This record gives sequence, structure tokens and C-alpha cells, in this order.
Amino acid sequence: MSTSGHKEDFNYRLWRYDGAPGELIPLLQSAQDHFGFIPRKAISYISSVTGIPESEVYGVITFYSQFRLKPMGKYVIRACAGTACHVSNSDKIIEIIEDELGIEVGDTTDDGLFTLNTVACIGCCSLAPVVMINENTHGNLTTTSIRKLLKDYRGKAVGGRR
Ligand code: FES
Repeated sequence: MSTSGHKEDFNYRLWRYDGAPGELIPLLQSAQDHFGFIPRKAISYISSVTGIPESEVYGVITFYSQFRLKPMGKYVIRACAGTACHVSNSDKIIEIIEDELGIEVGDTTDDGLFTLNTVACIGCCSLAPVVMINENTHGNLTTTSIRKLLKDYRGKAVGGRR
């Protein structure tokens, strides 16, 4: 499988671990590249190899927003918080997404459908406020259209399950 190379990277990093404090971040990055998130078993594994207590490893993971403890959702929402979107009410759009999905930025819904992240600029400021959902761009959003959009994606996911 194509992921075997990532697995080797992860183990290779563990094997090379020499106790340098700065090594923990690359180890966590390797684990996330391999699994798509950092599962409990990787935390235990890293802790046992490095001797760093699990609670400390967990603390580092939660400190850095780049790390996630859950897999990415089927739909990854990138809500633009750049200047053009900000002046076009992106804060409200993001608030509605959080509210509708019951999560905060950086989280994934419990059903694994949605992950919400923010980005600085998607590059289509004339359509502000904008969100990307996977590879699709949705612009000129209103408080009504963002709710409908989320509903449509949820419906699509349920319809596709069969
Ligand atoms: S600021 Fe949002 S697309 Fe540029």
C-alpha cells in the first residue's frame, strides 16, 4: 500500500530518537502524516520509546493547532477569515458553522462528517465571504445560504451511504 512509506518514516524517526527535546514535534508530525491524526496508540508508542510521559505528549499535541486527535471529517470545511472575508461578515459565517455542527474551529463532528478549519485567504476575495468544502468553493455566503449548504452536504452524505 502507498501508506507503507509513511509508516517507515514514522518508525524511522522513532528509531533515530536521541532524546533531543526538539525531536518530539517531528515525531508527532510523522505520526499524523501516517494516520491522518494522532491516535491514542501512537501517543503510547511515542511515550514508551522516548520516555516522555503520555500526559506531556498529550499537552504538546493540544498546544499546537496543527495536530489533531481525531481523523479528518469526510468534508473538510476551510472557512476564510482573511481581510476581505472578515469585512464581509465571515465571523458570523464561522459562528453559524460552529453552531450548526456543534463544534469549534479545529474540531471534527462526532459522526466524522465535518472538520472545520479557518484559513487566511482562499484567493477569491471578490466572492467574500467564502468557504471551501473539500475542493469546492462557495462564495457570497449569507447566514441563510451557509445553513442550506451544510444541510445539502449532510443530505449528500446520508444519501450516499445507502
Ligand atoms: S480574504 Fe477570503 S478569499 Fe481572500
